[in-house]
Amino acid sequence: MTLTPALIESLLTEAASAPSAHNTQPWVPEITDCTAEVAQVRVGVDPARLLPHGDPRSEDLHLGMGCWVESLMIAAAEAGVRTESVTVRGRGPTLDIRLRLTATESMASVESTAGPTRVESALTDGSAWPRFGVADLHHRQVDRGPLKRSDPRFAEATEICRNAMAETAVRLVEVPDDAWRGWLRRAALHSYGNRSVFTETLRWLRFDTDDPAYDQDGLTAECLRIPALGARAAAALDRPWLHSWITGLASASLAPVALARAAISKYASSGRGSRIAVLPRTKRSHPHHLVLAVPDQPALTAADEVEIGRVLLRTWLTFDRHGLRVDVHSELKDSPTVRDEVATFLRGRARGHTDCQEFDRPIAAFTVGSSTTPVPRAPRLSPF
Ligand SMILES: Cc1cc2nc3c(=O)[nH]c(=O)nc-3n(C[C@H](O)[C@H](O)[C@H](O)COP(=O)(O)O)c2cc1C
Repeated sequence: MTLTPALIESLLTEAASAPSAHNTQPWVPEITDCTAEVAQVRVGVDPARLLPHGDPRSEDLHLGMGCWVESLMIAAAEAGVRTESVTVRGRGPTLDIRLRLTATESMASVESTAGPTRVESALTDGSAWPRFGVADLHHRQVDRGPLKRSDPRFAEATEICRNAMAETAVRLVEVPDDAWRGWLRRAALHSYGNRSVFTETLRWLRFDTDDPAYDQDGLTAECLRIPALGARAAAALDRPWLHSWITGLASASLAPVALARAAISKYASSGRGSRIAVLPRTKRSHPHHLVLAVPDQPALTAADEVEIGRVLLRTWLTFDRHGLRVDVHSELKDSPTVRDEVATFLRGRARGHTDCQEFDRPIAAFTVGSSTTPVPRAPRLSPF
């Protein structure tokens, strides 16, 4: 195995399939050195692709960057390229990640030169997770359409994830449907009233198929599952000169829910991807809901959050391996009231399990189930 710039570029192309909040794809990779034996890759952040209002602490940014690192490592391992080290410095717009890749035929193992992070052991022992490949990266998708409950597949996949996370500082906790729906409703109301979050989200909606960015990034009407008629209406509304008017209506809570749902989309209505859950469901038909929880204290470093992003992608890939997709609801982290309720729930859930007591902060929240319709592909920027 000889490393070449073309080979490393092909790995960067695979890494670009990683998920990111609002599909901003904030990563800016660069090959800083490449010999036949060793390559160095640096990945920074495009400041124009940050979400300062929706993600003020850059938590989702760091998670998305972790998903990118994990995707690169999965693609590298399959190509016989070893990820020798991952170094994380800075945070938010100054985040700077360096990866050292070496030629080998063996599967990857990683050693962090940034000092041990609190979730690192989840990944140094790769054996606890399924061995993923490029086909898994391509198959994984977020599905915002109706998801079907599947108890046996869910049980099998969550057991794998929980075992792999056992020695780490993250936990996967299931949430009952009624609590989940209540939180989503309140989280939607919170984000709906936040003018800057709403305006920021509008920037990433792609309703007009003639928009040159339609095939590149952001959230298309198709991916948001907005019907053609609604998308056409939304495209007509989605003009920069109308944004302040729409935002004004939304943030003053004057906009009808119908505007938020049909014209601006579920995603925009919460600022972060909320579904205003109004459809009645029978007790057993709802899909499963999960929170990825971490201890509230001590505060996580950017390196910790990048590592958790890697765990998050592995979790979603594990569900995907079991025929299950996820519908992400980061808005649950935004409202202080909802966050407190989730924390109380997580502490109550942990009662009796002393090792889980401190895992009371949600870092990711998503619904899991099998797709019931074909899932539209989210666009990606061309990496070169
Ligand atoms: C950290 C993070 C947060 C996300 N938050 C949301 C969300 O709140 N609502 C949502 O619908 N999707 C959310 N997503 C999913 C992205 O929108 C999705 O990954 C992106 O549009 C690309 O689509 P794909 O994953 O199907 O390739 C999130 C993804 C990540 C990595």
